[in-house]
Amino acid sequence: MKQPLRVTVTGAAGQICYSLLFRIASGEMLGHDQPVILQLLEITPALKVLEAVKMELDDCAFPLLRGVVVTDDAKEAFTGADIALMVGAKPRGPGMERADLLKDNGKIFSTLGKVINEVANTDIKILVVGNPANTNAYILAKNAPNINQRNITAMTRLDHNRALHQLAEKTGNNVNSVKRMIIWGNHSTTQVPDISHATINGDAALSKVDESWWKQEFMPKVGKRGAEVIAARGSSSAASAANGVIDHMRDWVLGSEPGDYVSMAVPSDGSYGIEKGLIYSFPTVCQNGDYQIVQGLEISDFIQAEMIESEDELKSEAVTVEDLY
Ligand code: NAD
Ligand code: LMR
Repeated sequence: MKQPLRVTVTGAAGQICYSLLFRIASGEMLGHDQPVILQLLEITPALKVLEAVKMELDDCAFPLLRGVVVTDDAKEAFTGADIALMVGAKPRGPGMERADLLKDNGKIFSTLGKVINEVANTDIKILVVGNPANTNAYILAKNAPNINQRNITAMTRLDHNRALHQLAEKTGNNVNSVKRMIIWGNHSTTQVPDISHATINGDAALSKVDESWWKQEFMPKVGKRGAEVIAARGSSSAASAANGVIDHMRDWVLGSEPGDYVSMAVPSDGSYGIEKGLIYSFPTVCQNGDYQIVQGLEISDFIQAEMIESEDELKSEAVTVEDLY
């Protein structure tokens, strides 16, 4: 039997985690032969609810769950962790943009970034979910210079999955017949859901749908889906967000499907001309516990312009949080 992996999860008493934690403990994220220890962090007033979540985890009798730490001490939560899922942050309400959360949530990522820098393993794999996810990950990275910077990522997998569903539904196919979907850029309305390299049952996706549907319906639908869920539900997506976390981390650790791409927001290495260090969503492939940005894709003028708009948004968000690093 493998040694347990330690998974830190912040905001563990919140909506997303009520779905997420049970799926990690059941083996869906790291494999059905991989024991886990959950190190759950909350703010002090939420510890009582978190204790109740632990009671329910206990009551599931998950064979792979080898321990649950409940704490409001960030140092305890990150010590020895192999993986950190940074969910704890305010969600937006109706009428807000995700960037409106920066003022409140940015501070969380600067504080926790410093703690991670001090106590965590330098190779810890980090996924930022709390919004605005890309810039929160950027703040965390700036505050955690000792940590392998490649391993500080943010989540655009929910956008990727939303895009898969929309294209599959439009063309009357199952989602698993759609490959090579790409989300470029920021987890915001400037994101670029790009089907120009996608295939459906091996055929070019663009041969199956009108370009006008792609640009005028599909792209805004995917980009604004978070707000659509908030309007319908009264609060932001939770189970589908948890599912995005599971997919992102499972593929990173265990490998993505050969021949397919998965979208991950990662520190730019300058690929496709994107400013180095920005946490930007790229098409990636994952193997041996690592990811690589897919290189050499032909980028049309239309996509290029959209990619730059999203990059510019991230650059300006970075300027507004300069006091946090
Ligand atoms: P929630 O309000 O239900 O839960 C957030 C939890 O975080 C709360 O329990 C709160 O006590 C806790 N928290 C706050 N500050 C903390 C800190 N410093 N340390 C530890 N815990 C802290 O919200 P939710 O619905 O679970 O959403 C969490 C975040 O995820 C929000 O910012 C939301 O916008 C974001 N989100 C991102 C995506 C994505 O695709 N990237 C998708 C959905 C939601
Ligand atoms: C989402 O995409 O559902 C989340 O980022 C929540 C939000 O605020 O839209």
